[in-house]
Amino acid sequence: MLEFETPSHVIAHISDTHLLGGERKLFSTVDVGANLTRVLDRLRAGDQKIDALVFTGDLTDIAEADAYRWLRSQVEPAAAEMGAELIWVMGNHDERTEYSRELFDVESDGVQDRVYTVGGLRIISLDTSVPGYHHGEIAEEQRLWLANELATPAPHGTVLAMHHPPLVAHSPLVRLIELQEMSLLETLVRGSDVRIILAGHLHYSSFGNFAGVPVSVASATCYTVDAGADKSLLLSAVNGAQSLQLVHLYGDSVVTSVVPAETYENISGYPATLRAMVDTMSFAELREMISNKKSDFNSAEREQSADL
Ligand SMILES: [Fe+2]
Ligand SMILES: [Fe+2]
Repeated sequence: MLEFETPSHVIAHISDTHLLGGERKLFSTVDVGANLTRVLDRLRAGDQKIDALVFTGDLTDIAEADAYRWLRSQVEPAAAEMGAELIWVMGNHDERTEYSRELFDVESDGVQDRVYTVGGLRIISLDTSVPGYHHGEIAEEQRLWLANELATPAPHGTVLAMHHPPLVAHSPLVRLIELQEMSLLETLVRGSDVRIILAGHLHYSSFGNFAGVPVSVASATCYTVDAGADKSLLLSAVNGAQSLQLVHLYGDSVVTSVVPAETYENISGYPATLRAMVDTMSFAELREMISNKKSDFNSAEREQSADL
């Protein structure tokens, strides 16, 4: 049997679905509903046991009630099928009243902060939205609430999920709508049991660190921002490269991996039927088979490539 450390938790991190009511296309071009369906289908078809599905905001584009209802109708059954906890986070394109009513059946226009516990892992959904604006803030009352929550460590630590990442954006335009006064959050996170911060908002995959904690930004499932756009464009939004992320939590480390929303032609790989054989082999036998360049297994594969 394989002797690798298995993750204690696996999170599927999805962001910026930007759904519209009536299943309308975004910019009359992007089928944002189909993009979400594709991502959920990928998770269903994968061999990962997903413990939590985390959506880091901008769930809808203009907070239409039927867009939230459609989102809920698609994601709740998928999460139940996977046996995953479903965690929503507010974004700047969302509105608190519709978000609360349509996703939680609660009439409220207040701050939408929530705490979940998934097998000893605390996941905090922190509302960084500012009514009427696109930039992010964390109000004083929220900071007090968060400090109180983090005062008691969780058995497996904490994942902080928020829409606006506490990272400096390299685009001057995005700087205008990023999280304000990040230092106020820093004092709460540093030294706490927060293991990783998950965020969205940027529409491209990004990684950084904040207050000694890794920050992982999932790209969008709607459209993406091309972080390598040529200088003729101040900002370039493109209909491609959509993705989600998988977050694996181990005893003392966290690993994030980008998963493309699109599926591509399979040009090489191993069939799942090999798994039965793999499960009967020791770690040493497997390493010899896979790692030794002269193993029968690798020789056969090399011959196959040479034939092509
Ligand atoms: Fe967004
Ligand atoms: Fe956003």
